[in-house]
Amino acid sequence: MPRHLLADDDLTPAEQAEVLALAAELKADPYGPKPLDGPVTVAMIFDKPTLRTQTSFGAGIAELGGHAMLVDGAMAGIGKRESVADVARVLGRQAGQIVWRTYAQSALEEMAEFSGVPVINALTDDFHPCQLLADLLTISEHKGRLAGLTAVFLGDAACNMGNSWALAGATAGMNVVLSGPEGYQPEPAMIERARAIAATTGGSVTVEIDPTAAVAGADVVITDTWVSMGKEDEAAARLAELAPYQLNAELLAGAADDAIVMHCLPAYRGKEITAEVLDGPASVIWDEAENRRHAQKAVMTWLQARR
Ligand code: NVA
Repeated sequence: MPRHLLADDDLTPAEQAEVLALAAELKADPYGPKPLDGPVTVAMIFDKPTLRTQTSFGAGIAELGGHAMLVDGAMAGIGKRESVADVARVLGRQAGQIVWRTYAQSALEEMAEFSGVPVINALTDDFHPCQLLADLLTISEHKGRLAGLTAVFLGDAACNMGNSWALAGATAGMNVVLSGPEGYQPEPAMIERARAIAATTGGSVTVEIDPTAAVAGADVVITDTWVSMGKEDEAAARLAELAPYQLNAELLAGAADDAIVMHCLPAYRGKEITAEVLDGPASVIWDEAENRRHAQKAVMTWLQARR
């Protein structure tokens, strides 16, 4: 059975470290290794909007010697015209790997069950593991380490990025603080899942409702849109309820002097983060965006070796 990257904890702590080290190697030598030479075709399906994910996978697959095949999910009618299982069986006969951005985590799991080839989560409602690998690579570049650092995720901590931070940060041995109001925190089962990992890595996972207390002394301060893709009809309520969690200069002043600011983008200046902070000296957002490519190249390389 092939390995997949469906959720952040599909990688053990040792495997996550291995993938991150590989990402750094590939970044240093972007046109060197060609594990997808042949070329191996990688099917990419986007059921939600994309900029960074499509372009970083497309460029990364090319650099690895492979071929990126964009599959129109609406035209294929995944789950409607054909079942997810049948789409998986067909794509597994045409492509060497499958990259899918969709809504339900359960659909992604079904794709992996029937594809016979590695499936990579390019964002679901529940997780965004490729972003987390890029974020961890970025933090290790700026801080020289991961374990023991405190990372605070502000705002809609119940979204895919909050869940992924809990799992991937715990896997990396970081102290993850999730700061959102009631209703915007990960499910208790997700917190427990992350804490079980943290117990093995020396990390921790904490929920702190007060954003000022959450950010105090933080090494890394992260936020994300308050209106994730698919939540547009809740926009007005979300903007009102999450307003106290805006990442602005006043809040950031409580973090460590050398704290870095992260955002997976797209960002909404003046909403979840001010332009001053997003475009300011602590921000590492463009490194994060670039590192998507290097991290995903490492994931595809790692999965290809384990087919
Ligand atoms: N939480 C955001 C992440 C975007 C990359 C969303 O799901 O829209």
